[in-house]
Parts: sequence; C-alpha cells; structure tokens
Amino acid sequence: MATPPTGPETPGLADDSIEAVAARVSACTRCGLSATRTNAVPGDGSRSPSIMFIGEGPGSNEDQQGLPFVGRAGQLLDSLLRLIPVERSDVYITNIVKCRPPDNRDPYPEETAACRPFLERQIDLLRPRVIATLGRHSLNYFLPGARIGDVHGRPTRWRDIILFPLYHPAAGLRSSTLRQTLEEDVRRLPEAILRSLSLGAGAVTTDTTARAATPVQGAPASDLSTGPEPGEDQDRQRRLF
Ligand code: URA
Repeated sequence: MATPPTGPETPGLADDSIEAVAARVSACTRCGLSATRTNAVPGDGSRSPSIMFIGEGPGSNEDQQGLPFVGRAGQLLDSLLRLIPVERSDVYITNIVKCRPPDNRDPYPEETAACRPFLERQIDLLRPRVIATLGRHSLNYFLPGARIGDVHGRPTRWRDIILFPLYHPAAGLRSSTLRQTLEEDVRRLPEAILRSLSLGAGAVTTDTTARAATPVQGAPASDLSTGPEPGEDQDRQRRLF
C-alpha cells in the first residue's frame, strides 16, 4: 500500500477544480481500499450547494455505480430531501472515504487520513453553507468524540460553516423511530441555512485542518433547531437552495 499523505498538501490539489478532484480520486491508490474497489465514488451534485451531505463511505451499490447513496440508504436520503424540498442536483453528496471498505466495515484511521485532502478540497471549492453529516463516523470527523444521540439535529459552527449532524439513513431503515427523528431533523435544515446567511457562512477558509466545532455564538443550539413546520412557506424554503 502506498503511504497516505500526512497532511493537506497533496501536490497540485490546491489548484484543482471539483472535476479534477474527482479525477484524482478515481485514480487514487493512496490506501488499501483502492485495491478492492470497483469504482471510486468522489461525490455528486451541485457545484454551488447550500448543503453538502457527507456520509461514511460507499457501499456495494455505490462501488458498482461510482455514485454516492444510490442504494436503499440513498433512496431514504432522496425521500428526506423531498421533505425540505430539494432535489439531489441542488445539494452535494459525498463521503469521508471515497472507496468502499470491504464488507462495509468502518474506515480505518489511515484510510480517512488518505482521503482527507480530497474532502478538504471539495469543501473549499463548493463552499457549502451547511454541512450535514450522516452518521457517527462523519460526525466524528468534524467533531471528535461527539455522540450522535446527543447532537443530532443541533446546528453547530465549524469554521464558517454550519455543521448539522444527522443520523445515517441506514439507521432510519433499521428503526422507524430513528426514521422519524431523521425526518424531524431534516425539516430543520432550511432554518439552519437561514441562520448561516446571518453568520456569513459559506466563506470557507483555506485552513485544511479539521478541528472541533463550537456552538454558534449568541445562538444556542436549541434556538437554531426551530425550523419551519411541515408545509409552511415552501416558497421561502425553495429560495434557499
Ligand atoms: N452509506 C454511506 O455512508 N455512503 C454511501 O454513499 C452509501 C451508503
């Protein structure tokens, strides 16, 4: 296995476009996952997304198709997006690691480290207002040690972006209670974007070191969590994306 990069400095990556990052990901051999993948899964969606959804790593369907969240969890994600309502093409969807971990195991730290420069460059280029983490692994990339059960649906500031932790859609497939929680949390995303406008979010720095997030100053997480009721002013919501 090739040695993973130790930091964000991957030659040329800082100048790459989103398409060039995808091409690098597809050709990447920086960790052992490259040996077992069918296709790398760089990410997909809008070039100027309000929301960037970040999952853990591709599963079997994603590995076959080279696209993120195209299996059953992806179908649930699609139905969650329709609640807001947004299309896939309005958001960007990617993963912490871009190649499938065998048997869908958790990615190893060295695999996450190998992929880190790609994710950092994607965030820098796309400048999302909100990063919605999907599941524990993605949450802990941004907020080490945080517990999904404690922080889901509670917006937090990370750099100049609102971090919005969500349960993984696969959890919603296993439990109707968690599916309901996911739906309730997703309905609060538009409000998080509105808050990001007043915070100047989307102006991402080039500091590529992931660091712990902090609650938004002057806006307790509980306040930020109050979203529009279902059906309320959908036009206003649409204009956000
Ligand atoms: N689960 C993930 O975390 N990512 C995908 O792309 C698919 C399933």
